Amino acid sequence: MRFFIDTANVEQIREAWELGVIEGVTTNPTLVAREGKDFQQLLQEIIAIVDGPISAEVISLDSRGMVDEALALARLSPNIVIKIPMTAEGLKATKILTAKGIKTNVTLIFSLNQAVMAARAGATYVSPFVGRLDDVNADGIGLVRDIVDAFAHYGLDSKIIAASIRNVGHIADAIRVGAHYATVPYDILLAATKHPLTDQGIARFLKDWEKLK
Ligand code: E4P
Repeated sequence: MRFFIDTANVEQIREAWELGVIEGVTTNPTLVAREGKDFQQLLQEIIAIVDGPISAEVISLDSRGMVDEALALARLSPNIVIKIPMTAEGLKATKILTAKGIKTNVTLIFSLNQAVMAARAGATYVSPFVGRLDDVNADGIGLVRDIVDAFAHYGLDSKIIAASIRNVGHIADAIRVGAHYATVPYDILLAATKHPLTDQGIARFLKDWEKLK
């Protein structure tokens, strides 16, 4: 499984990029609004750091508006992936952008039907939201597993991004069920590098090393 970082914070993106673990970045309107910067300026800053896919979300609700926004965003860099909400209008926009060779990430996926339809419309990536499903007592990882199985069965090429990751257990679950990617907030990415036995092991090695003196 590969990793994206799920943030619009430039400092976090720079730190995560230096880890050598992430392949790219996913943003959404909430994450961008949190930074309080002009969207295109913010994307330019991210493009300067990350040499990989950067998902930027459109906010129009009609396909024409989505495509217009997408064309402007795609001009910033070939690494820009247009994030499109999973609606009927979003599917139309996905089809148009795919025909133009622009990559898409169909987001806010909460069902198997939505994932397969997004894939059929040509989505480069589909993003099922694990945490938000768990929040309503549904099975977030179960949905990712179903999508992995269905895409394999039907030979669908879209890459599956386990999104709305809330804890390190979600990352391990996404790995287990065969998601292509997980997009992970910075604090959870760092938490996933840690294990108490690693810290104990380092402490013991250093203590033993002291005995050499
Ligand atoms: C996905 O691309 C979204 O940006 C994100 O994972 C949403 O996560 P949340 O449910 O924690 O807001």
